[in-house]
Amino acid sequence: MVIVLKLGGSIITEKDSYRKINEDAIVKLFDVLSKSREKMVLIHGAGSFGHILALKHGLEKPGPSKGREASISRVMSDVLALDSAIVDKLNEKGVRGVAVPPHAIYHGSLPDFKIVETLLANGFIPVLYGDIIVYRGKYRIISGDEIALDLSRRFRPRSVVFVTDVDGLYDSDPKVNKRAKFIPKIRASEIEVIDTKRDATGSMAGKMERIKKIVHYTGRVIIINGKRPDRLSDSLEGKETKSTVIT
Ligand code: IPE
Repeated sequence: MVIVLKLGGSIITEKDSYRKINEDAIVKLFDVLSKSREKMVLIHGAGSFGHILALKHGLEKPGPSKGREASISRVMSDVLALDSAIVDKLNEKGVRGVAVPPHAIYHGSLPDFKIVETLLANGFIPVLYGDIIVYRGKYRIISGDEIALDLSRRFRPRSVVFVTDVDGLYDSDPKVNKRAKFIPKIRASEIEVIDTKRDATGSMAGKMERIKKIVHYTGRVIIINGKRPDRLSDSLEGKETKSTVIT
């Protein structure tokens, strides 16, 4: 069985500096991945390689691609550059990652995951990412979270891991409320979300709605802090660690 692991854009890039990689975090996380024997599909977010220009050019809402080709291809080129850097770093660590551009998978009414299947069967780690897709004259942004849902429907992973910049879920916003309580375990049906700030792919509420769907196709969803690579390591080894497990 496979594991789907999404690295959030806020962990692998400097979210407010256009096209800036967070190399330190990437290297530490890939050290952990290099020690894992799990069959895995990796997804990464776009961070500052996607959101900044997508918002600047008003691409967060889907629409006709005609007349917007320049900004669409600019953003696609930026996220591909990030992916190339990520795959490069994976390979430096001996992790056999192979780039799979989402725009090559989402070109019809249903995603075509054949290439992902083939790579997995041959011992590679497919690496997908948040991207823009163009189909029948229309473009839209596809987030890494949405790709995680589609992959889960197709591959029924053992677990889906979201590596983020927070420890997991709280009963209220820990940045606002000092007494916010951490939630180590919760059932998807018990999650209630209050909407928060948005980026080019939506809000925390949107992310949680997606996670609630993903839970139907996997044993568990784990939210973990990528600033603590030891936790990812423990989690991949099946050890108890600080994280939120959603079932
Ligand atoms: C965003 O993907 C894709 C683009 C803006 C083109 P994600 O939504 O998965 O990225 P992060 O994790 O929030 O950075």
